[in-house]
Amino acid sequence: MIRDAEKDDAAEIAALLKPYVDKKILLHRSLEEIRENAAQTVVFAESGGILGTASLVFFSPTLCEIRALVIAESAQGRGIGKDLVLAAEAKALGLQNARPMRFFALTYTAEFFERCGYERTTKDQFPEKIYEVCNFCLRKDDCHEIAVQKQVS
Ligand SMILES: CC(C)(COP(=O)(O)OP(=O)(O)OC[C@H]1O[C@@H](n2cnc3c(N)ncnc32)[C@H](O)[C@@H]1OP(=O)(O)O)[C@@H](O)C(=O)NCCC(=O)NCCS
Repeated sequence: MIRDAEKDDAAEIAALLKPYVDKKILLHRSLEEIRENAAQTVVFAESGGILGTASLVFFSPTLCEIRALVIAESAQGRGIGKDLVLAAEAKALGLQNARPMRFFALTYTAEFFERCGYERTTKDQFPEKIYEVCNFCLRKDDCHEIAVQKQVS
């Protein structure tokens, strides 16, 4: 079941992110940061707990990043990642009326995003992200993430 995240989910979400933070695939987020961003996060939950998560970050009313997307290793390959991306997009479209909405992600798994309807682009298409986030990242001079985007009318 995909649902909106709640602040109380923060510890479970942090545990899902941790292996990929350790592998430097995702940036570290504090529990407080995850809690604060719960209103812009969706999760996939089964009886055993939360198995997937994806967050939104708006840089403007029409520019939204899909961030901190993780599916538990045991649940990968079931279509949950794609469903979560689509659910995150639907949530963003519900939060902001302005159109067209441009979604983007910086990722090592561009092929996965292509399966979700995204196309590859370049990071300079998102100066807001570069100025507000990337410039402060420890890996800014050694970043191999690929930019992908999708526009929804
Ligand atoms: C990448 C990730 C989110 C994919 O989630 P998932 O639930 O396993 O993916 P899905 O089952 O929804 O796959 C949807 C489609 O993408 C394809 N796909 C999934 N992962 C892929 C990958 N790493 N490379 C290429 N294609 C991939 C699937 O084959 C499927 O294709 P189809 O539509 O033709 O059937 C998940 O593997 C993950 O959490 N990885 C570790 C963390 C990570 O890299 N996060 C992304 C950072 S932005």
